Amino acid sequence: MPALKREPGIIVAFDMEEIPLAIDLAESLEFAKGNFAIKIGRPFELQLGLHAIERIRMATSHPIIYDGKIADIPHISEKIAKIAYRAGADAVIVHAFVGRDVMEAIVDLRMGDVIAIVDMSHPGSSNYMEELSARIARDLGDIGIDGVVLPATKPERIERLKELLPDDVYVISPGIGAQGMMVGDAIVAGADYEIVGRAIVEADDPARAASRIYDEMIERWRRSSSLGTQQDRSSSPL
Ligand code: XMP
Repeated sequence: MPALKREPGIIVAFDMEEIPLAIDLAESLEFAKGNFAIKIGRPFELQLGLHAIERIRMATSHPIIYDGKIADIPHISEKIAKIAYRAGADAVIVHAFVGRDVMEAIVDLRMGDVIAIVDMSHPGSSNYMEELSARIARDLGDIGIDGVVLPATKPERIERLKELLPDDVYVISPGIGAQGMMVGDAIVAGADYEIVGRAIVEADDPARAASRIYDEMIERWRRSSSLGTQQDRSSSPL
């Protein structure tokens, strides 16, 4: 069973450099109603090394994703993933473009979810990655990964690439809020989780912002499901 449930949720991106802010937010998210996960990025990890994951593990029962964007040779990638899982991560994010052997080495550890980056959300991703993403999506079937990253900033690519992916793989999607997309844009296009960083972490009350964004996303998802369409784009901006 994958650590991340296959139901709409919000992944809160922990890229802050302030340790107390991270711990406070992880603790308050325990009381938030909804399906949440915490993604630990390099800026926060670098504050404390592997203890960043250990410290957040102590503060939360939500799944923890280590977003090391692993992209090294199999031996090193496997080592990085092992350290993250041992520290308390339930999932790790690996770049798919580095090759099947890298993803397989991490899957073979069987220590937690493996999430592969298929396409990215920033403008420069169209320079090289877009050409590769369909090929990568088609090729993931027999590797045994649990989830993929697809960009909320390109909802039409979420729809298209999802058709090429194995059915049992979940989709997590960054680009909501600070990168310009509206709450619900990725879910309506077919993602399972929306990743939100700055719009939550930089809010006056981050835990309350997380709950509000979750509720808004679910409302938009329900509306689009009941309309039976994936074209409902009538959400309000953050
Ligand atoms: P913001 O503050 O923009 O944070 O809401 C976004 C978070 O998502 C990560 N990110 C990505 N991760 N592929 C990824 O694997 C992507 O295309 C991508 N775009 C953004 C970013 O590191 C931050 O934590």
